[in-house]
Amino acid sequence: MKRIAVIPGDGIGVEVTAEAVKVLHVFMDRRSLPLELVTFDWGADKYLREGISLPEGALEMLRRDFHAILIGALGDPRVPSNQHAADILLGIRFGLDLYANQRPVKLLDARLCPLKDRVECDLNFVIFRENTEGLYVGVGGNFKRGSEDEVALQEDVNTRRGVERILVHAFEYARGHGRRRLCMSDKSNAMPHAHGLWKRTFDDVRKRYPDIESRHLYIDTLTMEMVRDPAQFDVIVTCNLFGDILSDLGAQLVGGLGLAPSANLHPGRTSMFEPVHGSAPSLAGENLANPLAAILTVGMMLENLGFPEAARDVERAVTEAVRSDQTTPDLGGKLGTREVGDWICSRL
Ligand code: NAD
Ligand code: IPM
Ligand code: MN
Repeated sequence: MKRIAVIPGDGIGVEVTAEAVKVLHVFMDRRSLPLELVTFDWGADKYLREGISLPEGALEMLRRDFHAILIGALGDPRVPSNQHAADILLGIRFGLDLYANQRPVKLLDARLCPLKDRVECDLNFVIFRENTEGLYVGVGGNFKRGSEDEVALQEDVNTRRGVERILVHAFEYARGHGRRRLCMSDKSNAMPHAHGLWKRTFDDVRKRYPDIESRHLYIDTLTMEMVRDPAQFDVIVTCNLFGDILSDLGAQLVGGLGLAPSANLHPGRTSMFEPVHGSAPSLAGENLANPLAAILTVGMMLENLGFPEAARDVERAVTEAVRSDQTTPDLGGKLGTREVGDWICSRL
């Protein structure tokens, strides 16, 4: 039995997770996949009501009792500091040491690409984002806060161990998935300390993978190249912040955030699966949010849990939905969130 912790979260996270859960129930009820779901109400409402974001002992419980975590999105305008989201989302990423954030960029239907004359096979690459270090560690502070002399520091923390393991993970993924090219991206020309470490570590690690064509691009150039000629990429690996930004760009190249899934992984441990998008407060409660990113995320989770056939079926059903316009308005369709979820379930 595989146990899955479900955290719907805030805003459209709740709505898209409901559809993702419907899909999981199809696999449990009609195909007898041995899954057990337990839902947790962590998010803005609980935080505002009880002052609790990530409950005490939660990380140990997740690690001990669950094989995977499915999370919707966190973020609510009533919590301007975003404190609960940082505690829950970043808390789980850091606390469970989920160092590899895998964000695939795959064009399911050529009509969705905003670039001229692209076909499906032109956009099919995977971004690996370092997920436990960099500018996200929260080290820093404000001095003379609120005054005209205020100083703000936000430290970029990079360790040899942390950089090496994400690079190795990306190379191993490439090797294991028939991906022949890998690109590492940093800003070592302007940030010689932090990103010099990335560049030097990359130069060491790549020697162990002579079968993979590996190269380095500065992040500004990579951003341009992703738009100019995305077909050149197979696997991209980069730091936490750059990976965050690149994955939204990648999402938009293949139809937008409503279609972008992701996995936060530490091989062999409890991992967390989430759509790339946020809680989109302006769409919340309208039955307008696209649930396909969350549903593709279920596919990634099923693959990780050892059900590759189910994962393939999920992606196939989503591709059919997109190609036959059984979609929400962001993709040009006329359906609501729930109707898209129902359509996918009926195909499955
Ligand atoms: P967002 O991803 O929530 O939304 C940006 C825009 O993208 C939306 O206005 C909408 O037009 C579109 N969009 C996103 N998801 C969509 C979907 N499923 N269907 C249709 N359209 C969709 O980003 P934001 O507005 O910058 O952030 C809103 C809140 O979400 C913030 O609090 C932010 O911190 C948080 N956030 C959370 C996560 C997460 O939990 N993983 C990720 C990103 C942002
Ligand atoms: C994402 C989000 C998060 C991030 C925010 C909500 C902290 O944008 O998952 O892409 O920057 O990692
Ligand atoms: Mn993001």
